[in-house]
Amino acid sequence: MKIERAIIGGTGFYDPKLLKEVGESTIETKYGNAYILKGLYKKIPVAFLTRHGKDHHIPPHRINHRANIAALKELGVTRVLAGTAVGSLRERLTSGTLVIIDQFIDYTKGENQTFYDGENSKVVHTDFSEPYCPQLRKYLADIMTKKEIPFVNGGTYITTDGPRYETPAEIRAFSCWGADVVGMTNAPEAILAREAGLCYANLSLVTNYAAGISAHPLTHQEVVEMMSKKIDLIREIFLETLLALPAERDCLCSVKEDYDLGQRKDGC
Ligand code: HPA
Repeated sequence: MKIERAIIGGTGFYDPKLLKEVGESTIETKYGNAYILKGLYKKIPVAFLTRHGKDHHIPPHRINHRANIAALKELGVTRVLAGTAVGSLRERLTSGTLVIIDQFIDYTKGENQTFYDGENSKVVHTDFSEPYCPQLRKYLADIMTKKEIPFVNGGTYITTDGPRYETPAEIRAFSCWGADVVGMTNAPEAILAREAGLCYANLSLVTNYAAGISAHPLTHQEVVEMMSKKIDLIREIFLETLLALPAERDCLCSVKEDYDLGQRKDGC
């Protein structure tokens, strides 16, 4: 079964409910293995990957993003919608708000965040002028508008390594840098997806105010509780968006620089 469309679920998003004829597989890649569910949504094949593993046993700094993205690529996936829980740095982004992310700041220090780590003496600098696929973002926005689901169209996601939450001083600094929401997973995933030539978009759910803005200490429980309230909605938004997407990609996500010629070419 050729699978072109995929969902990556985060905290509280482990169940591909709504998919029919679900089968599971472990895909072996040169970076490690990835566990992926495959099923049908209204006859369209969809792959579903939970980045924290079944039941949240992989902490953010241990996620093998390279294996996950390489496995999707190996399946033939070209479009990916990723869900994340985030803390809010802005008063107006209250708990329960859905945000289509359009920029990121990468504050992670982790390794394994690139497919281009100098192997074969190949040095590659990927363009991130448009970090998330504009076509996927548009279809996400259109589906939510059509369904009259409130959302915020655009926001900057800053990624920390985790697994700890941030200090109030960090949050103040991030806020000055222009970040709107904070989470522990998005940047490496978005970077690798683009390096792999995949269309990738992120829909974030605000689950709490960030440290120092929240009136109380942060807990994972709070994050999980908000996610469980919205998960059915997010699942439906993702699947309906994947269903609505036309076959043609009208973006530059798969366009790469030709390093011999110094030009850009289609090279997914
Ligand atoms: N910080 C980092 N990651 C998060 C948060 C947060 O406040 N909320 C949900 N994921």
